[in-house]
Amino acid sequence: MFSIRPFEEGDNARLLDIEKLCPHGNEKYAMGMDKRDIIARYELYDNWNVLVAEEEGKVVGLIGWTVKRDPIQRETFIYLAEVMVHPEFRRKEIATKLVTEAEKNARETGSGHIYCYIFGPNDNSKALFGKLGYSNNGEFKTCAISAYKKANIAQKFEIERINKNDIPDVVSLINDYYTGRAHFVPYTPESFESYVKRIPAYGLENFWVVKDEGKVVACAGLWDWSVLGDMCYTKEPLIWKVMRGVFGFLSLFFGKMPKIPTEGEYFKGYYVTDHAFEPKNSYAMSNLIGYFNNIVFDAKRDFFAAQLDPNDALFEIIKKIKPQIDACYVFAKAFEGELPELSPHYIDIRDCIP
Ligand SMILES: CC(C)(COP(=O)(O)OP(=O)(O)OC[C@H]1O[C@@H](n2cnc3c(N)ncnc32)[C@H](O)[C@@H]1OP(=O)(O)O)[C@@H](O)C(=O)NCCC(=O)NCCS
Repeated sequence: MFSIRPFEEGDNARLLDIEKLCPHGNEKYAMGMDKRDIIARYELYDNWNVLVAEEEGKVVGLIGWTVKRDPIQRETFIYLAEVMVHPEFRRKEIATKLVTEAEKNARETGSGHIYCYIFGPNDNSKALFGKLGYSNNGEFKTCAISAYKKANIAQKFEIERINKNDIPDVVSLINDYYTGRAHFVPYTPESFESYVKRIPAYGLENFWVVKDEGKVVACAGLWDWSVLGDMCYTKEPLIWKVMRGVFGFLSLFFGKMPKIPTEGEYFKGYYVTDHAFEPKNSYAMSNLIGYFNNIVFDAKRDFFAAQLDPNDALFEIIKKIKPQIDACYVFAKAFEGELPELSPHYIDIRDCIP
């Protein structure tokens, strides 16, 4: 018989081992993580909670969530960050019990709904949340770009790190870009600065603006989230293996080709965050993506990625550089009444740690 209790510091090592046994996906396509600390991702938020499941004194599973508040809409809602169960203890309703406990706790915060993100091939997770009354309320695309060669940057633009004086312009660009998307809480200059600074390896020093004749026309952050862990594909689609062979062959004649990691090969990731631009300035944004490519290339890293609503204007720009595109689904459930419209959706980059 298993029991549920709050996470304790001493659970960390065991849970890190369990996480390595819990890739997200199916037998053909799955990804895994190697983290340094199970709790580090939660410390990016003000309000979070982690419970563990224990069977005969042994930790066998975990669930974690954060409570988010939108002071403008006066709404509270829950992001269910992860649930995992050791493979030897599955199909015993441990995940069901963990989710039920999390929901009970979440209801006590007065939250109206709960949502989570499910990696496209993660059939077990879709089945679990489907059974628990969650429905698919949207999707976003993970667009991963291999920085295998330098991009040309148009001379016309100045691309520079944000300085304090740019913050009000950046905040108004971001607020205009995301207005109307579910879960977006407009920034103030102060809240933007504190959000960015709160995230390790992000901060204003990793936030960039593109200026045209001195005016900010595009902006985005580049967050090296490998401070929290490394990622790998534990199972790869056959087409990747074929493509790796093809690229290997072509590289003999044409030099460097996009990298495709091998199964089980850990790599470090960067995320493009809080990007914004006006439609007429899409060329400026595409130059900023090229600039990020060059930062990643110079850092001798292989990849960076953007998490994009399919209707996000950046999706059209990034598609042109042929990223690897995966789908992630937004599963959600209302605690009372109707679920609000969750698409289009603002993606809080802290929520995207696998
Ligand atoms: C998804 C996961 C948490 C399920 O844990 P679990 O303790 O085995 O789940 P439960 O026993 O509570 O299953 C509840 C229901 O979910 C569905 N489900 C769970 N695992 C399933 C599987 N392997 N195949 C099909 N349905 C499955 C079933 O409907 C099941 O009910 P049933 O057993 O009566 O058919 C576990 O497989 C896991 O840790 N996976 C890896 C990590 C992960 O993907 N986490 C989710 C990230 S969003």
